[in-house]
Amino acid sequence: MTHGKVDALLGVVFGDEGKGKVVDYFTPQYDVVARFAGGPNAGHTIIFDGKKFVLRSIPSGIFGEHTLNIIGNGCVIAPDLFMAEARELEAAGYDVKSKLHISKRAHLILPTHRALDRAYEAAKGKNKIGTTGKGIGPTYSDKAARTGLRVGDILCNFAEKYAAAKERHEQILRRLGYEYDITEEEKLWLEGVEYMKQFPLTDSENEINQLLAEGKSVLAEGAQGTMLDLDHGTYPMVSSSSTTTGGVCTGLGVAPSKIADVFGIFKAYSTRVGSGPFPVELFDATGDRIRELGHEYGAVTGRNRRCGWLDLVALKYAVQVNGVTQLIMMKSDVLSEFPTIKVCTAYKVKSQESRVKSQE
Ligand code: IMP
Repeated sequence: MTHGKVDALLGVVFGDEGKGKVVDYFTPQYDVVARFAGGPNAGHTIIFDGKKFVLRSIPSGIFGEHTLNIIGNGCVIAPDLFMAEARELEAAGYDVKSKLHISKRAHLILPTHRALDRAYEAAKGKNKIGTTGKGIGPTYSDKAARTGLRVGDILCNFAEKYAAAKERHEQILRRLGYEYDITEEEKLWLEGVEYMKQFPLTDSENEINQLLAEGKSVLAEGAQGTMLDLDHGTYPMVSSSSTTTGGVCTGLGVAPSKIADVFGIFKAYSTRVGSGPFPVELFDATGDRIRELGHEYGAVTGRNRRCGWLDLVALKYAVQVNGVTQLIMMKSDVLSEFPTIKVCTAYKVKSQESRVKSQE
């Protein structure tokens, strides 16, 4: 931790490394914990005071007594899911409203974004990405197309803006011939929009830079992993946000010179959820045993995670892309019962090898 600087804590392969747990461990050292990318596709599991919480949009610093938590401009947020998540914390006695600020520039995930996510996946058939179904891709697409709704929009003429966006989405859904019913979902979503108004909705980039100028320390909490990054991952089988160190700058509005340490988290073995290349995947009893011992089932979707040995080629690539200064290895105990542990040091593509040299 350095005063007046941002440290980044990132998943450096396919996500699900246990970032929430590590952020929770680091939180007492930092004044601010901020999420900079992604949304409720994440599921950061934390056991606090003996109770299990799965945080989707709320930063994992929320259990810190004096920690300010920020959902940054690079994030996407679903008001209904956010409300459920925050209320669960409130019911357990945590004061969320005084400790969580939300960027006015973060984008809103609409119920019709989720319907579009499902419709696009259905249309792709066997080429589907295997998304979490939370509307992430369609929301970031609207952001890039400059047609999205942002958190700040809920403060001014919202009904009108929402109706226009919904109609635009419904035209696409009709063209795709996709059947959906968002009636109940929409009621909760609109209640979530009202609920969000009780939180400080801020110009978070100004706020964070001001705090840094005062010498405060910030931990940027990543979501997903490098190989799911829109630019640097296994495109098109990726998520739609910037999950890497570059995403910290754009997703919080801080300059690269403000970043000090980059903590890269990985597991002693590999997992991947959803479709896409996974060279180290084990299709045998060893893969099943790793899944069982490591409890490798999705925190958000409950899906079986694909399992394999540690991939040093991917790890080396991620260290390079993110400028990792410190590596944190998780879940090595899961491998205790295996007499032999393997790691991947090279890929062979059509008899050509790309190798990670042992001294590197
Ligand atoms: P989306 O982010 O829901 O659009 O999903 C795109 C891809 O990223 C799918 O393969 C998902 O399984 C994967 N994905 C999204 N969020 C996570 C995560 O938090 N952990 C692991 N995989 C994820």
